[in-house]
Amino acid sequence: MEQYIIKGGNSLAGEVEIGGAKNAALAILAAAIMADDTVEIDKLPDVNDINVMLEAITAIGASVQRIDRHTVRINGSGITNINIEYDYIKKIRASYYLLGALLGKYKKSQVALPGGCNIGSRPIDQHLKGFRALGADVDIENGKIVAEAEALRGTHLYFDVVSVGATINVMMAAAMAEGVTIMENVAKEPHVVDVANFLNSMGANIRGAGTDVIKIRGVKKLHKSEYSIIPDQIEAGTFMFAAAVTKGDVTVTNVIPKHLESMIAKLIDIGCEVYESDDAVRVVAKRRPRCTQVKTLPYPGYPTDMQPQIGVALALAGGTSTITESIFENRFKYLDELARMGANIKVEGNSAIIRGVERFSGARVSAPDLRAGAALCIAGLAAEGITIVDDIVYIQRGYECFEEKLRSLGGIIERVSSEKEIQKFQLKVS
Ligand code: UD1
Repeated sequence: MEQYIIKGGNSLAGEVEIGGAKNAALAILAAAIMADDTVEIDKLPDVNDINVMLEAITAIGASVQRIDRHTVRINGSGITNINIEYDYIKKIRASYYLLGALLGKYKKSQVALPGGCNIGSRPIDQHLKGFRALGADVDIENGKIVAEAEALRGTHLYFDVVSVGATINVMMAAAMAEGVTIMENVAKEPHVVDVANFLNSMGANIRGAGTDVIKIRGVKKLHKSEYSIIPDQIEAGTFMFAAAVTKGDVTVTNVIPKHLESMIAKLIDIGCEVYESDDAVRVVAKRRPRCTQVKTLPYPGYPTDMQPQIGVALALAGGTSTITESIFENRFKYLDELARMGANIKVEGNSAIIRGVERFSGARVSAPDLRAGAALCIAGLAAEGITIVDDIVYIQRGYECFEEKLRSLGGIIERVSSEKEIQKFQLKVS
């Protein structure tokens, strides 16, 4: 089992280039199979979740040609199977995007029902409500979602909760339905807009993505396209908070500053200086963070995927902070790990009350999920002494070259897989 071993104490400084957005890429890869022409997708992050999605697409008969580390060509004309097996869903929930993509294109699809996951129970009722509203029969049979329609028909649909996944999944199916679909109370995240732009580049007719209402005029066929994925705002935010936590000076490049606004506002709140340019943001943290209040919300609110990273900063802040997690019920598990490093935190329901401490001390901790894992590494970079992070497979799902990027900023972090390597690292840094 691989681990990260970290020697804390260095302030991170320098420039780091941000890759393509994982969550946009997962949906765009699924949508790519909806054309029978070849679609070329660029700026794909080279992370495990993306590779699993490419395997799922290959397994149903689409052709996948890797041009280089960040570019892929997909051709969906050879699809022979509309059944996505549990193996893929178990590894990445987002393979459920193939449900909307296959239903839109072939009017039938079967995808294993995703279970809960580390951050919460994660129902998918809104996805199914949307498919049914388009005229599909949707049943759960033997652990699978089975969706089928004679024809999909445009509809007027109001989502009960704002869901990124349901917005994208139903948008894909509606892109190839007959007539006009109006979806209200949709998610406005940048990756929802990116998927809509990608579908439009293949000939779909989708308007309003990025607002509360999306209008889709269905088309019969989608065609070839070449498309570049937007930068990952969560990867960018993670490095921006790494600067705040280590009293560093970090510039994230290849970003869209507009997508980072809620995080920038919080960084300023806790005392950082933030400088924006066209496609870069510099975060300078000269002193200990200040306490604040934060509540996770759908975009443009503060993202739940950035909750552990701000949690680490607030655990070191002067004064008492509160975090309210309003999206997923089980996203505070990392706080128990952080307590092992000396943090002083009390969780009450969906709120965490954090009394900032002066310093963390290195400890052995486990990554409970992807973003929390990255946050614990940042905590390790700020801690006194050595931190070992277990279960880093979670981090590798979503961060490309995480340790290399941190090292390029002056962080002392290595990936190890044996006691001998741990001892070697300890000797080297002592
Ligand atoms: C996506 C992101 C994830 C991020 C989350 C919220 C991907 C692959 N994952 O997840 O990283 O944390 O958005 O920004 O893009 N809900 C329902 N019924 C549904 C669907 C959702 O009740 O049918 C609830 C969820 O339990 C949750 C809330 O709606 O409380 C938001 O979830 P959603 O936006 O759907 O998250 P995901 O798309 O799963």
